This record gives sequence, C-alpha cells and structure tokens, in this order.
Amino acid sequence: MKYKAKYSAFGSYVPDKVLSNFDLEKIVDTNDEWIKSRTGMSERRIASDEQAASDLATIAAQRCIENSDIKYKDIDLIICGTISPDHAFPSTACFVQKNLGLKGIPAFDISAGCPGFIYASDIARQFVENGTKKNVLVIGVEILSKIVNWEDRNTCVLFGDGAGAAIISRAQSNDISQIIDSEILADGNYTELLEQPAGGSRMPASEDTLKENLHTVHMQGNRVFKLAVKSMYSTSETVLKRNNMEFNDLDWLVPHQANMRIIESLGNKMKINNEKVIVNIEKYANTSSATIPIAIDEAIRNGKIHRGDVIHMVSFGAGLTWGSVLFRY
Ligand code: ACO
Repeated sequence: MKYKAKYSAFGSYVPDKVLSNFDLEKIVDTNDEWIKSRTGMSERRIASDEQAASDLATIAAQRCIENSDIKYKDIDLIICGTISPDHAFPSTACFVQKNLGLKGIPAFDISAGCPGFIYASDIARQFVENGTKKNVLVIGVEILSKIVNWEDRNTCVLFGDGAGAAIISRAQSNDISQIIDSEILADGNYTELLEQPAGGSRMPASEDTLKENLHTVHMQGNRVFKLAVKSMYSTSETVLKRNNMEFNDLDWLVPHQANMRIIESLGNKMKINNEKVIVNIEKYANTSSATIPIAIDEAIRNGKIHRGDVIHMVSFGAGLTWGSVLFRY
C-alpha cells in the first residue's frame, strides 16, 4: 500500500414525497402497528415520476462535494452502487458524470445489492491506496419504489428512495482521518432469496413476465433475516479482530437499515451500547445501497459524528452479499 485513504466528506438527498405507514394502509392490506413492530419503519421517501436514480445521485454528489474542500475538477473516478439504475446500460455513474460536468474520468456501477456503497468504497479505497486515483466519488443510490410490486404487502412496505455520496481521498501522513480496513464477501448459493427475476438475459421481458409481475422485487424475507445478522456479525468481527480492536472501541456502528429487529440483534450480539448505533430506518425505511451514506451524512449534520470518531459500517443484501468498512472519520 503506497498511501492511506480517507473519507473526505459525505452528502445525501432524499425525495420530498413522504409515504407513511398510514398511506400504505390505503394501498395494501397492512397497518401501521404491523409495519412498526416488525420493521421499525414509520415512513419512507418516494421519488417523483420524472426522477431516475442518477437525478438523486447527482444531488447527493453535489452536496458531498460542497461539504468538502475538493473541487469538481479534482474528482478522478465515479463509482455508483445501485440495483435500481436509470437503465441496465449505460451505467448510472455515466449520467452522474455528465450531470456534474466532469470530463475525461472513468465512471462505472457496482451491482452488489444493499452493500453497494460498501463494495464501491472497498474498490475506491484500493484505487486511492495504490496511488492511481486521488479523489473518488462513491455513491449509493436507489429508487426501489419503481421496482417493487405495489400489490405485495410482503415487500412494498419495506423500501424507500434516496441517495448518499462520499469522497474517498488520499490521506496526508499527518491526517487523523483514514480508512483502517474493509472486507467484501458474497455467496451465490442464495441468489433466489432476493431478486428481480425478469428483464435480464435469463428471463427477457415479455407479456407474460409483465403479467406475472416478474420485473419487481421478490424476497424470501424470513430466510434473508436469519442470514443477515450472522453475515454482518462475522465480517465485523473479522475486520475488527485483524486490527486488534473490539466492538467497544467503536464510537459508532452504522448498520444497513433493513429492519430494526436485525439492527437490534446485531447490536446485542456485539454487546454494543444502543446509543452508539446510528438508526434512521423510522424515517426512510430500506433505501438499499443508500442507507449507510444517508445515515452518516445525517449524523454528521446533526453533530453526532465528529472528525476523529471511529466508525464501522456493515451491510448485507441481494446476492447474497455482505461487507464492512472500518474507518476513522
Ligand atoms: N402487513 C401485515 N402483515 C404482513 C405484511 C404487512 N406488510 N407483510 C407480511 N405480513 C404477514 C405475512 O403474510 C405473514 O402472515 P401469515 O403468518 O398469515 O402467513 C405474517 O405477516 C408474518 O410474515 P413473516 O414474513 O414471517 O414476517 P417477519 O416477521 O419475518 O417479517 C420481514 C417480514 C419484515 C420482511 C422480515 O422477514 C425482514 O425484514 N427480512 C429481511 C429483509 C431484508 O433485510 N432484506 C435484505 C435487504 S434488501 C436488498 O438487498 C434489496
């Protein structure tokens, strides 16, 4: 490793439209009590008909750059984690590049389910550490409201829309901020637990796939739930152990916001004080790859997270994929 990498800044954007649990009661056979007690969610944000993933990502990126002392022209790579891109191709990152007016730099997407931001961060970190890039714009963005089945109460109540961005930069030798370690993992034996079955080369779009709602999110929630805590705990333990740290050494745990019961089980297993766990699932529900950068940006703006704090981000999702990043902000 030639250099150290650090998170220079975060930024986020959520659409204005709020969809509450009470609004959902009018759409599917559900109720506020069930959603709150089973998931911890009260409301979520929904993108407008005109907004695509790159529109949300662009605003989050602009806010992130404005929160930093980095100039637009100094961004030298864009990586976007998303499973609800503008198009299957070209990549959402290319639209963001155009929107930001950045020319002559590479831009690509990562499809890693909810850990999209963690995967993108792990990749960006390596570009910076080996000296190839200096300021990588890393984004997690989703508009899952456009790919859920609004007649399926098992899934449609769980998701929301939003974007979070960060810049991973080369750290100076005297910098307190640095990415300490990260890990990304996958197990392709569980691809059927969480998927959008149609629309790709396995099951191209047809009248039948449309009729059968196969272009929407299909999830075996119960099975995902069981694997979530196990996988998030194991990557966290690995990363902390190899840096001679314990869960108690963390200032903040920022877990993927998929279900409050998963977050609580993980926190209990880690024996970490609840107050050190950043949670905003109540307001935004599960925004997949965007949950972690949105939560961190909000916690910085609220004065919770400060420069020098030790933070562990951990996520899991479709693939199955999981991973974590340990850093000093
Ligand atoms: N309102 C009312 N009742 C409901 C609803 C709803 N919205 N949804 C399901 N139910 C019912 C079910 O039909 C079932 O009824 P039955 O017993 O009569 O059959 C009952 O509630 C219990 O259903 P379960 O699925 O067993 O409920 P569970 O407690 O497991 O909660 C949930 C479901 C919230 C989906 C949970 O399993 C979960 O959070 N799983 C993990 C999801 C996740 O983290 N996904 C990964 C990230 S997403 C990504 O990568 C894109």
